[in-house]
Amino acid sequence: MAAHGPARKMTARPGGPLTGTAQVPGDKSISHRSLILGAMAVGETRVSGLLEGQDVLDTAKAMAALGAEVTRLDDGAWSVHGVGVGGFAEPEDVIDCGNSGTGVRLIMGAVATSPIAVTFTGDASLRSRPMGRVTDPLALFGARTVGRAGGRLPLTLVGAEAPVPVDYATPMASAQVKSAVLLAGLNAPGQTVVTERTGTRDHTERMLRGFGAEVETIRTDDGFRITLTGQSELRPQTIAVPRDPSSAAFPVCAALIVPGSDVLVPNIGLNPTRAGLFGTLQEMGADLIYENLREEGGEPVADLRARFSPDMKGIAVPPERAASMIDEYPILSVVAAFAEGETVMSGVHELRVKESDRIDAMAVGLRACGVTVDETEDSLTVHGCGPGGVPGGAEAAARLDHRIAMSFLICGMAAKSPVSVDDAAPISTSFPDFERLMGALGATLEREDA
Ligand code: S3P
Repeated sequence: MAAHGPARKMTARPGGPLTGTAQVPGDKSISHRSLILGAMAVGETRVSGLLEGQDVLDTAKAMAALGAEVTRLDDGAWSVHGVGVGGFAEPEDVIDCGNSGTGVRLIMGAVATSPIAVTFTGDASLRSRPMGRVTDPLALFGARTVGRAGGRLPLTLVGAEAPVPVDYATPMASAQVKSAVLLAGLNAPGQTVVTERTGTRDHTERMLRGFGAEVETIRTDDGFRITLTGQSELRPQTIAVPRDPSSAAFPVCAALIVPGSDVLVPNIGLNPTRAGLFGTLQEMGADLIYENLREEGGEPVADLRARFSPDMKGIAVPPERAASMIDEYPILSVVAAFAEGETVMSGVHELRVKESDRIDAMAVGLRACGVTVDETEDSLTVHGCGPGGVPGGAEAAARLDHRIAMSFLICGMAAKSPVSVDDAAPISTSFPDFERLMGALGATLEREDA
């Protein structure tokens, strides 16, 4: 039930500058949503640039198990023949979402207002993550769930036979929770409302509008209020998935800390709900510029140019920025280790329930690399090594978490001694081409089967 192959130790050695162009893969959030919304539309949706990482492939398999026809075409695009809102068939087997919290939580929302029973599971990481944050609001629609204590997978969700619309305030800043409620609202009569105090990534709202759903977002005194009108048909779309800013973060940050580097990362979506890291790096003094800034499909897009930045300084990252860079704290904490002074990352308790406890994973691994780190339940503070450099010379545990694995490998490219991760296999969930792409820029990555 692992989302990837057997454990694979990998070591990054310090080496020469990173130079060239890095074409990073398609956006993971948008890829999941393309398949799920395509499966809920009537007719054929075509998707180019889909991230073919394991997380998204698991969602493709799930959509097929629910009755959609999902095919990879000869030109590399994907075709999804949808079954329409409320048209999902009861799957014959368990739906295994592998490592993907986004996959499982969004699919739970999508099936919650159809009268079918669906059993979900995932790998050891996903089975340890909280699902109550999604099953609680889905219960308000009339869905029932039976699962392990603490709302953990595996669990069976029985969708509502006569769904009612819901008005729900998300208790935590989570696009997955917001999206699950909106997807469930598609097959409920009347208006479903979600309010969130902090704006989280808004791909579901934007894409639902693209598919023809009626979705309105209003800024209120205390956040955002999103209203969806249910039970209208979704129109199939042609989607070009933009490249993932969360994946771009890795070659960008590597270039900033490896001496002499100069790397171009083209066509990166800079939706403000996703781009918090890049502004943060600029505030730290990074030589990171947006070239060819333009608009594509209603979203800002640019080519990112990152050059070695020996004079970066630690900063306090404002907690209200957390949602716009929630997946980037692991790699930011590596950059912070190379900067001078303290980088304080607060308001980040959500990091404790990602693919791993990312506060703990980074604190333990960075300390092993010779970096001083403080943590609280809600914060991570990295005391940068500055010009003295990061010692490295350690092995970090990836904890079934792709972003932890990639972060420590980037650390090893710039540290004084090599850094290993015990298992690089999870990288395939979001960035299957990471090893080749970083190698082509000049990084030295060595693998050894554990
Ligand atoms: C995602 C939302 C975020 C993010 C995840 C992708 C999404 O999770 O960490 O990688 O696509 O909606 P939360 O909703 O738990 O913040």
